[in-house]
Amino acid sequence: MASASQAQTADLQIRKLHPALGAEVRGVDFNRPLPETTVTAIKQAWADHLVLVFPDQHVTDEQHVAVTRYFGEPEVFHQDIIKSKRVREIFRVANTDDDGKIMPPSHPTMRQLSGAQKWHTDSSYRERPAVGSLLHGIEVSRTGGITCFTNMYAVYEALPERLKAKVQGRRARHDFGMLSRELGARQPTEAERKAMPAVWQPMVRIHPVTGRKSLFISPTYNDAVEGMDDTEAVALIRDLTEFAERKQFVYEHRWETDDILMWDNRCTMHYVTPYDPTERRVMHRTTIAGDAEVMAA
Ligand code: OGA
Ligand code: MN
Repeated sequence: MASASQAQTADLQIRKLHPALGAEVRGVDFNRPLPETTVTAIKQAWADHLVLVFPDQHVTDEQHVAVTRYFGEPEVFHQDIIKSKRVREIFRVANTDDDGKIMPPSHPTMRQLSGAQKWHTDSSYRERPAVGSLLHGIEVSRTGGITCFTNMYAVYEALPERLKAKVQGRRARHDFGMLSRELGARQPTEAERKAMPAVWQPMVRIHPVTGRKSLFISPTYNDAVEGMDDTEAVALIRDLTEFAERKQFVYEHRWETDDILMWDNRCTMHYVTPYDPTERRVMHRTTIAGDAEVMAA
């Protein structure tokens, strides 16, 4: 009965990191198979805290992918850049190439990754946006590279009536092409463009697990708002973003080596602060693929 893996469950320790969201989870070892009770406890903690921090998880990419599978199907990125050549489910959120050499900020891959320095939620440009993401800090930054998360349930609930009225029943467009248009990332090939057409998503959504309403925008990818001209749309996304980034809603994560962060893309946004581009920063991400279209509120 008293197997090593069961001891993990008994020892799960959860510590809140910010009043709005984020909790540290100890007593879990991603090097070993997770018992069902542990997976259930993690899912509950995830629904409660939105962003979970698992410290000291010294895992291989294969183990990282295996852990992801407890929570859904890992997404495989539709472009060759960023995707690891060795493990196809791994996104390399890194300023080093596959040979370990630092890429300058002018490199098209770095320009594409700079999209993460603006508030967004992962894969919001897909018809079925990602459920969540797991990011492993392999070589972490000391000059910046702080990842910030905002609680979009709380943002929606606190939204001034003027803004609430504007987003109610409205859709915003999310386009992967924004990365090349706005940031000078590599132009998508014809096939990639066809595979990823812009999508209209409700601006207020219902979380399929908690049933709660949240604001759903992704400023890195938003290029239009239903029934608004460009000026009005840009102003609305800006106003919503400024509201969402108020300190009361935001947890800022300062990375330690071998932290794994698991965030819920259905009720949070995130971005990373700039860092010294001559400093190595190597983070590996898996993404839990979307299992359903976004539920409009
Ligand atoms: C991501 C992302 C933030 C970071 O991987 O989706 O936005 O801290 N990264 O690198
Ligand atoms: Mn991201």
